[in-house]
Amino acid sequence: MPLNSSLNDLRSSPFVALRGLLDPLKPAEGVEPLALTIGEPQNQPPQLMKDTLTENDHLYGKYPPVDGTPALRTAITNWLNRRYRLPEGLIEADTHIAPVNGTKEALYMLASVVTDRANGTDKPAILMPNPYYHVYHAAAVMAGAEPILLNATKDHNFFPDLDELDEALLKRASAFFLCSPSNPQGTAAGRDYLERALKLARLYDFTLIMDECYTEIYDQEPPVGMMEVVRDLGGDLSNLVSFHSLSKRSSAAGLRSGFVVGDERIIRPFINLRNFAGAANPLPACAAAEALWNDDAHVADNRALYQQNISIAEKHLGNRFEFYRPPGGFFLWLNVGDGVEATKKLWTEGAVRVLPGEYLAGTAADGTNPGKEYIRVALVFDPEMMDEALTRIANIL
Ligand SMILES: Cc1ncc(COP(=O)(O)O)c(C=O)c1O
Repeated sequence: MPLNSSLNDLRSSPFVALRGLLDPLKPAEGVEPLALTIGEPQNQPPQLMKDTLTENDHLYGKYPPVDGTPALRTAITNWLNRRYRLPEGLIEADTHIAPVNGTKEALYMLASVVTDRANGTDKPAILMPNPYYHVYHAAAVMAGAEPILLNATKDHNFFPDLDELDEALLKRASAFFLCSPSNPQGTAAGRDYLERALKLARLYDFTLIMDECYTEIYDQEPPVGMMEVVRDLGGDLSNLVSFHSLSKRSSAAGLRSGFVVGDERIIRPFINLRNFAGAANPLPACAAAEALWNDDAHVADNRALYQQNISIAEKHLGNRFEFYRPPGGFFLWLNVGDGVEATKKLWTEGAVRVLPGEYLAGTAADGTNPGKEYIRVALVFDPEMMDEALTRIANIL
């Protein structure tokens, strides 16, 4: 039976690959197994979320609108204005915002909205950092584009080197995924870098897809957001969409709530496509999301937790594995020499599960896998458990 041949180009999920590596091995005995693999906050979502869901549970019987509620879109706009110090009116709640059921599927779908596979003879290209959040690659493949992996290494703050992009590639690009703060490395792009990326998108008329789901989780200072760059350039949103999520900000991964903000020429057809192929967020979840975007206090608590965990990591690993305090997000990106071997050792000798960096990256055109020497460690448990896990890591490696 014929299937979509693009399916053959999907890579295996890093978590499936990890099970293949570790499931045949016996974990160390006598200690509790600890999984520091997935970027899922382990603390409870705020009570505010639970109360609001309960208050609105009579609405579960209703079909939710695909573009959320006006009150949710307003709460999102107000948060953007607060967080990025935007002038009133730059973001219009009813034109520039599309609430989505988590950003994962929305990132995936957006690539199809901005890629014209029928245009011309050259296959469209979608650029992305390498390592990358695994959805970007799948999104490019299924949109009929060629995924272009741009190595994001230490010498460029773990972002793709924009000087290396050649003109032929930029002309072929339909989209460029960028993630800041970056996953897995936790670095934040500077203002100049973001501005250059946006200007390239406009010059070559492709879509810059900014993934900013870690923007509220930072160590010392708030990372520059794409909307601040837009503000400083005069407020024009063209060729840009930016993704935000409550999963990390509010430790609410199960609520499945996020949004896209950007160019209305992209937002409008995106919402239209979601009328057919998008799952709208239930109305009680929209109400809870509205309450969460309106509240910053619980986010400050979350940040403080991760800062504490980073300090614990610094205490144990500070002068090893090229350790640095990640400016954003909650992952450590540790150079352990051989990520796969270190992962196996941590599991068999310490019952600690981490992700080999090479599972988060692909082999780039130059034949290298920039994740090979690394492991990613998620600092998502309470400080006591993190102390235990990091002690084991420091002792074993
Ligand atoms: C970089 C990045 N983008 C997007 C997502 C998707 O988040 P969600 O679908 O929960 O909004 C994740 C989740 O781990 C992520 O790490």
